[in-house]
Amino acid sequence: MPRHVVLLLSGPNLNLLGTREPEIYGTETLLEHVQAARGAATERGWDLEHRQSNHEGDLVDAVHSGIGRVEAIVVNPGALTHYGWSLHDALAAFDGPIVELHLSEPREREPWRHLSVVEPLAAARVAGEGGAGYPKAVALAIEAAGPGGPVSDPGSEPQRLS
Ligand code: DQA
Repeated sequence: MPRHVVLLLSGPNLNLLGTREPEIYGTETLLEHVQAARGAATERGWDLEHRQSNHEGDLVDAVHSGIGRVEAIVVNPGALTHYGWSLHDALAAFDGPIVELHLSEPREREPWRHLSVVEPLAAARVAGEGGAGYPKAVALAIEAAGPGGPVSDPGSEPQRLS
């Protein structure tokens, strides 16, 4: 039975979470965030795939691999948020909902972080909520993917956020 899949993408330097500027990004590791995100997907009967890369082209390839195959994308592009136009263009070619995710709130930081190349494409944006943002962003992405629920469980109602 086909499963519904949400693709979680993590950009440069997010592999260092846990030790990277913990006063800004917290002490949880990327693996812990991915586990929380996967839990939110599993609760709703969805699968979650994760890809982290420090290279923009890898993330572009990951988006391409999701086209026609995954239903939604959650992306924390790291610093690519602010200048990654080829990632923007790849995401623009994706026809499902995109949720932009950040641990911190870039709009409250240095001016160069205020521009997001993903924001014009995003169905929702989750920022400044630390690790709690991961399951929340997945829930929003699944909700935005629309009613019907997983093909493997056609009787289930889509989850609503409280
Ligand atoms: C980030 C914010 C970006 O400005 C920064 O470059 C990151 C992480 C966040 O999750 O808060 O690498 O996306």
